[in-house]
Amino acid sequence: MLSVPLTLASEGFFHRLWYGAREPFNGEPARIGGGGMADMAPASDMLFMGIFWISLVSFVFLMVLMVIFTVKYRRRPGVPTMRSPAHNTPLELTWTVVPLIVLVWIFFQGFWGYIHGQTGGALPEEISLEAQKWNWGMTYGNGAASPELVKVGARTDVPLFVAPAGVPVLLKMHSIDVIHSFWVPDFRWKQDVFPNRYTAFQFRATPIEKQDPSILQTGKHADGAEYKYIDHYIFCAEYCGDQHSEMAGVLRVLPPKDYVKIVTDWATPRGSDIDKGAFYYKTKGCTGCHSVDGSARTGPSWLDMFGHEVTLSDGSTVVADENYIRESVYNPAAKIVAGFPNSMASQQGRVSQEELDCLIAYMKSISKYAPKSMLEGGAAPAEGDRGGEPSGQGERK
Ligand code: CUA
Repeated sequence: MLSVPLTLASEGFFHRLWYGAREPFNGEPARIGGGGMADMAPASDMLFMGIFWISLVSFVFLMVLMVIFTVKYRRRPGVPTMRSPAHNTPLELTWTVVPLIVLVWIFFQGFWGYIHGQTGGALPEEISLEAQKWNWGMTYGNGAASPELVKVGARTDVPLFVAPAGVPVLLKMHSIDVIHSFWVPDFRWKQDVFPNRYTAFQFRATPIEKQDPSILQTGKHADGAEYKYIDHYIFCAEYCGDQHSEMAGVLRVLPPKDYVKIVTDWATPRGSDIDKGAFYYKTKGCTGCHSVDGSARTGPSWLDMFGHEVTLSDGSTVVADENYIRESVYNPAAKIVAGFPNSMASQQGRVSQEELDCLIAYMKSISKYAPKSMLEGGAAPAEGDRGGEPSGQGERK
């Protein structure tokens, strides 16, 4: 009995109708898995397509019977009205017991799938996932976070995450503000993400060597070595405010050894405070609301923000200096920039003092109102620049 929906679930017109095809979309690489891309996907597809076919068959059966009865038993002149039978035990038992069996089957299929998604395989690779309005963040076992951004639809700054293929992966998830829902359509799975509580998302992505080679893509490590991967969209499936629909991510599934290599590479932000600040801008979830190119998003752009005068919602003005930024990060509701909503959560405990220093250095580096350090290639001060206090030395040779 089950082999029929199974076959129909993995192939064919109706499957493609619901789950999409693997063609590239909008000039971007294909990121929709027509066949399902993780261990729970085939069971989910089978259940969905099973329910679909059960519904379709029941619907057609009932409608055809209805039409036949309507025609056959219609009122005709000269024919006396028949008395309705009061009872038919075999018939009533049949239409009670048969749907009951079907519904119990549906319940257990869904229940087993749910339990499977909640409880891990043995010793899964744990990754912690954090949601906030309106971005996803993942932190790996070595403390690394992804500094890579990719294009999805209209957004060019969607965070890219990696996960090993073929092994159990467990996402420990929490939210720092409202309820979100972590959803990977290719895996046929989603799970709500709550503030003040962890939830789990468990999957085992299809091993790369078992994927259809035509949908694999090739990436390059920092050392030039190549690896094969497949990208999956991440969406938010719980309405969480203005930019809910743009709360996206890309999950790159790749061979475990390449996963280790990349995450090891991501572990340490290198370079100057500005480089580190640019790294934290991408890894702390700032990209969801703050652009660095001047375009207005949910929050003010960081371009030319530092050192500039900001008009607040109460009409007063303030200069965006270190203390203003510190307050805006740790107590965002204290001063709201005119024209923007009060929707940011406090980053207390998420962004350390040291990380804040680096973020401020980065903000300065992209603001024409901020001084540039000579060490960072800023222009050497001309005679008389850098304050009005004469030092008495080296002046006016
Ligand atoms: Cu987050 Cu919707």
